[in-house]
Amino acid sequence: MIGNKKVLFVGGKGGVGKSTSAAAIALLHARQNHQTLLVSTDPAHNVGDIFHKSLNNQAMEVYPHLDAIEIDPTQESYNYIQTVKENIRGTVKSHMQDEVNRQIDAASSSPGAEEAALFDRIVSIILDEGDKYDTIIFDTAPTGHTIRLLTLPELMGVWIDGMLERRKKRNETYTQLLNDGEPVEDPIYQVLQKRKERFSAVRTILLNNDLTGFIFILNPERLPILETAKALKLLEKHRLQVNTLFINKMLPLNMEGEFWRRRKENEKEYVSWIEKEFPRQQKCYIPLFETDIYSIPLLEEFAKHLKESVITLTEHS
Ligand SMILES: Nc1ncnc2c1ncn2[C@@H]1O[C@H](COP(=O)(O)OP(=O)(O)OP(=O)(O)O)[C@@H](O)[C@H]1O
Ligand SMILES: [Mg+2]
Repeated sequence: MIGNKKVLFVGGKGGVGKSTSAAAIALLHARQNHQTLLVSTDPAHNVGDIFHKSLNNQAMEVYPHLDAIEIDPTQESYNYIQTVKENIRGTVKSHMQDEVNRQIDAASSSPGAEEAALFDRIVSIILDEGDKYDTIIFDTAPTGHTIRLLTLPELMGVWIDGMLERRKKRNETYTQLLNDGEPVEDPIYQVLQKRKERFSAVRTILLNNDLTGFIFILNPERLPILETAKALKLLEKHRLQVNTLFINKMLPLNMEGEFWRRRKENEKEYVSWIEKEFPRQQKCYIPLFETDIYSIPLLEEFAKHLKESVITLTEHS
């Protein structure tokens, strides 16, 4: 057993190697006979491409001890809306049902609806499927999206609190109006309360350094460094610690020619910047391969560069 980390989030700017890294980490865990789940939350999926399997929102085995899921935010949002309608049905008078459904449909096309649905699926994976797996690895969408997603439990908590408060007041008024002192049963209050409890359970897991790890991937280039620095600060504000960085696509050492010699010199400056900017994080340098990482043997080759780092991540961070 490599340590006891349960949930890993892999983040970073677009195209830096998040999916490849997440898949490689998953492969290492699976090869240690850990029951592992790799979850892609990125609308532009490529986890399936690496394993040459067509994935969907239910776990499918892609390698011994390794299952994968690709969450489709649009589909998730649709399912979510259906559940909301189910939950509401029976709680409103039948002649109101059409109007309520119209309101829900309007809400479902508002900004953030897909994110909320995606987040709900992530919550259900962590809470309901967590028992089946030793490790769950989330391959996330580019930085901004991921940060919003990770800070959502806090925001949703505040939002739900507001709704609960309002409903409580309203129910108290009803109770007074009815004047029999009996509190009114409010199924919507209960649905909201349940959601709040689930979000706060996930938040407790995310904030627990022994259970959750955050890995950021970057390339030795200016923009990924700047974006990583910004992301780490933002996450730390929400008390989410990033302990590990993968610096991916490092140029080989022995390149010939003036052009490549200068590129390598340039890269060295970025590496010193990275070392200075992120003194606290453990760093793992991964070379640029001759080709894309599009097969399991190439992924295994990629994973060789991580082994030590991933093991220390799970044991010591
Ligand atoms: N070390 C490497 N050497 C060569 N190619 C690499 C390396 N790491 C990743 N790649 C390739 O770079 C491309 C981008 O990698 P990947 O899909 O893992 O990035 P990503 O951060 O998940 O991108 P996106 O933000 O689009 O999801 C892929 O074609 C992948 O095979
Ligand atoms: Mg990706």
